[in-house]
Amino acid sequence: MAKVYVFDHPLIQHKLTYIRETKTGTKEFRELVDEVATLMAFEITRDLPLEEIEIETPVCTTKSQVLSGKKLGIIPILRAGIGMVDGILKLIPAAKVGHIGLYRDPKTLKPVEYYVKLPSDVEEREFIVVDPMLATGGSAVEAINSLKNRGGKNIKFMCLIAAPEGVEALKEAHPDVDIYIAALDEKLNEKGYIVPGLGDAGDRLFGTK
Ligand code: PRP
Ligand code: URA
Repeated sequence: MAKVYVFDHPLIQHKLTYIRETKTGTKEFRELVDEVATLMAFEITRDLPLEEIEIETPVCTTKSQVLSGKKLGIIPILRAGIGMVDGILKLIPAAKVGHIGLYRDPKTLKPVEYYVKLPSDVEEREFIVVDPMLATGGSAVEAINSLKNRGGKNIKFMCLIAAPEGVEALKEAHPDVDIYIAALDEKLNEKGYIVPGLGDAGDRLFGTK
């Protein structure tokens, strides 16, 4: 069964408060999402494997640990997932980046796929699928279906804010995918928005309406 991790680090929670606030403008919103993505990436990479190598310090020869070359991939769900990519790449700059384009039909709330481009060696990579919002869960479930249909096996999902409904839907559809979130909110409203949430993540990131 999928595990759900809520990152309650004070820095993440502080920045998330300003991300939520209506009066936070596009520039600051973008910067804060980027910063929170970096902080979450720090936590999510905690289990990366290490190996020991021999190095020379100015004082002596010693053994020390480095990452053991695991192949990583980041998959933002377009559009809003793009806002989290650079923040993650600051910590894992060699990761490959794939894209899955989905939008949520405003009437049915069902995801509609319009673009998929993944690294060629999908089967060998460990992926982090990212999107700021997990609302009904439809987009995340569909993006991960799409990735698995193309050979993706080792997948984590990371978002800023999740609704309980989205967490349940994702756990049920993909019990092998652990979920990493900065905040678990109360519920969805009648329009499928997360309450209290932050509004429309894509519009706030890109300054559209
Ligand atoms: C938002 C958000 C998620 C999706 C979450 O994207 O970025 O992808 O909604 O909702 P769900 O869990 O109910 O599927 P949106 O469809 O608004 O597209 P955009 O990123 O292009 O604005
Ligand atoms: N997508 C968003 O951008 N915000 C929500 O609250 C729900 C879905």
